[in-house]
Amino acid sequence: MMKNNNPIGVFDSGVGGLSVLKELIKALPDEHYIYFGDTLRVPYGDKSTEELLVCTRRILDYFKTRDVKAVVVACNTCSANTIELVKDEYDFEILGLIEPAAKYVCSFNIKSVGLIATNATVKSNAYKKLIEKNGINVFQQSCPKLVKYVESGNIQGQEITEVLKEYLQPLFDNNIEKLILGCTHYPFLVPAMNEMGIENEFFINPAVCVAAKTKEFLIDKKWLNRNGKGIREFYVSGDTDEFKQNSKLFFGDIAEVKNVLSQEGLKC
Ligand code: DGL
Repeated sequence: MMKNNNPIGVFDSGVGGLSVLKELIKALPDEHYIYFGDTLRVPYGDKSTEELLVCTRRILDYFKTRDVKAVVVACNTCSANTIELVKDEYDFEILGLIEPAAKYVCSFNIKSVGLIATNATVKSNAYKKLIEKNGINVFQQSCPKLVKYVESGNIQGQEITEVLKEYLQPLFDNNIEKLILGCTHYPFLVPAMNEMGIENEFFINPAVCVAAKTKEFLIDKKWLNRNGKGIREFYVSGDTDEFKQNSKLFFGDIAEVKNVLSQEGLKC
């Protein structure tokens, strides 16, 4: 069946996934994207697998009603904990961040890499398992405070620098040679890390890897939207104005943000 004009779903707990959407737009500008940020339930990083499964299925069920040809999971926490468990329940492709990013890390001739991520991603050992098979040591650091800073637009200045130092020092003590930005909120902290003297070449941004993988997938299926108008729709479960405001900093002006899956009563 021809799926060229069908949209691509992209989701995260909040604004973090916009770092993935940005890379997708760079790689595939003509596609129709439907972005969903579960801002009513952010952060995901401290939720249990059971809770994350409820959130993931609810979002994928919504994307199913929108007849998507693929979903890009713009959330490491879900990519690491839920995607493998639910992907057979859906008849569209579900592309996660971990595998393409781990493959990219393994293309470098290095002995060690650092990972900063949420508690749930670190606990899953998803990156560690894939990368260490290839003889590269993975030093993991969970950074539970960072998502809150990004969601509130507080991404530069002394306070965030101190928090970043606290998280990064143990990794530097282990002489890491690259650093995986293992939460989609963290690419927005790169300017703050640049100010601390860390250069761009040091970072591995999984968003770039999943965007390349999505392009490969669409080319392979012959599902590219060649004449698309690059439509972008934005939905959140929480406050639409707040999302619009925060996105300005990370993405630019978004004309319209609508509510979906916003019933407080929905568990998780
Ligand atoms: N941005 C998501 C991730 O990549 C989730 C962060 C959170 O909500 O804790 O893991």
